[in-house]
Amino acid sequence: MARILITSALPYINGIKHLGNLVGSMLPADVYARFERARGNEVLFICATDEHGTPAELAARAAGQTVEAYCAEQHEIQKRAGEAFGLSFDHFGRSSGPQNEKLTQHFAAVLEDRGLIEERVTTQIFSIDDQRFLPDRYVEGECPHCGYEKARGDQCDNCGRLLDPMELINPYSAISGSHKVEPRETRHLYLLQSKLQDRIADWVASKTEWPALTKSIANKWIKEGLQDRSITRDLYWGVPVERDGVPRPGFEQKVFYVWFDAPIEYIGATQEWAEAAPDQNRDWRSWWRLDEGAHDVRYVQFMGKDNVAFHTVSFPCTILGSEEPWKTVDTLKSLNWLTWYGGKFSTSQNRGIFMDQALELLPADYWRWQLMANAPESDDASFTLEHFAAVVNKDLADVLGNFVNRITRFCAARFGEAIPCEGNYGAAEEKLVVDLDAKIKSYTDNLAAMEFRKAFAELRAIWVAGNEYLQVAAPWTKIKEDKPAAAASVRAGLNLIVLFAALSAPVIPFTAEKMFRVFGLDPKEAGRWPTSARPALEFLNPGHAFTPPDVLFKKIEDEQVEEWRERFGAE
Ligand code: MF3
Ligand code: ZN
Repeated sequence: MARILITSALPYINGIKHLGNLVGSMLPADVYARFERARGNEVLFICATDEHGTPAELAARAAGQTVEAYCAEQHEIQKRAGEAFGLSFDHFGRSSGPQNEKLTQHFAAVLEDRGLIEERVTTQIFSIDDQRFLPDRYVEGECPHCGYEKARGDQCDNCGRLLDPMELINPYSAISGSHKVEPRETRHLYLLQSKLQDRIADWVASKTEWPALTKSIANKWIKEGLQDRSITRDLYWGVPVERDGVPRPGFEQKVFYVWFDAPIEYIGATQEWAEAAPDQNRDWRSWWRLDEGAHDVRYVQFMGKDNVAFHTVSFPCTILGSEEPWKTVDTLKSLNWLTWYGGKFSTSQNRGIFMDQALELLPADYWRWQLMANAPESDDASFTLEHFAAVVNKDLADVLGNFVNRITRFCAARFGEAIPCEGNYGAAEEKLVVDLDAKIKSYTDNLAAMEFRKAFAELRAIWVAGNEYLQVAAPWTKIKEDKPAAAASVRAGLNLIVLFAALSAPVIPFTAEKMFRVFGLDPKEAGRWPTSARPALEFLNPGHAFTPPDVLFKKIEDEQVEEWRERFGAE
């Protein structure tokens, strides 16, 4: 049994996530976690909300809430949405918790002791009326490139150019609207990543198993050369710049930069997980400290491609720079973008479907299947409702659903609601076993390699093979001339349902559970990962009772697609 630590990139707190965010990290991480658990490995699957930073402050302000209340509420909303989608986190934490605060301050202290952090003087916009320095996004003004009057200090929303707040014409404070702003000198902490260039380059080079997308992004950053970066910001909401409880002079109004503390929350959330069940002897250190048992942990991270640099360069600078024995990532699965009809998902422009809305329309498994079977792996992928409907109707309703409903109903009608005893398996079943075993192997290998599109093409082929077997065995006609032969193929078909349930559970867990329940089976028992169809065909004893399920998947109608197109801005 291996110990596998799995983390998904932490979703930003501001607002419920859309389908693109979901398939970008949380969902593939969940599928992989479920797969590894079914294989009998000890899995710890960790996620959390990423709560600090300007966007959280701004969103709270827009909602008319304190940032604390806003984050607490949004955390619950995201937590519930994740549960409803079947995301099987062992813990869903909060980066604003006390564990992360301590850890973040600890890393900063150690890095400073190692000579990897220094104070530097920078010039920044100070707002006299607000009596504070303004972080980039809190300064607005006229774009020097296109003249747009409400450009933000970090970027112009009109022409898309990245900006420095100092370039804005007629700058003003986004907090108060006051134009009484001026450049002033201030101090920030810098993490001297340039000193870690060789260290990180060697570490990345040693990671031979990283997938191509991850590796190429990491190498691009290393080739450009690591830059020292500021790890503090002029904000209220964040981890205070303190050491052993003592505020750093001159930093009383500053906090650590959100991208400094967020990845540390992977560790913080593991600590939260342990502390959430004091009676269970959960040892977070055994997952994270090489000197306390983590040497045998395999650590796998999931994230969208925009996060790769932070996970392959910045966070490793924190961890490796500390020279403490922390576990580092073994492999990182990164994904491209899922687009909404080729463009961006956007709440404000009402484009796309968000996690809560998706579940108002259809159960989680419909989305889980479509998203994973078409995951944006080798390239960006476009989500369209038309494609979604076609995939659901074909793969789930026609292939898997039809298989289960057809064989259970036929058996109930002609042999009764129990596994038929008569007849023996013959050449047709032997051929089926050989065919399925090759497919199961390929499916398993692809899941283990986190090649999800390939994996689920193979799973679909497994379902198809079941249908083809029944098509050829044709118990519905065979029963007239050779009842025992018909009984044997029905028995094989019913056993296939259990096999398919076990194989499908990582991606469509709710449906897999229904399929196990047809036979009154406990998913934990029956759901162990199958390596061969041969024992699977003998799994259910003749005479074992079952109850035919309701239709597993309803087809999506054209009218529904039309209605959803209208509602979610499809074009
Ligand atoms: N919140 C970030 C995003 O959605 C991801 C943070 S991952 C972390 O892009 F590890 F840094 F937390
Ligand atoms: Zn502009």
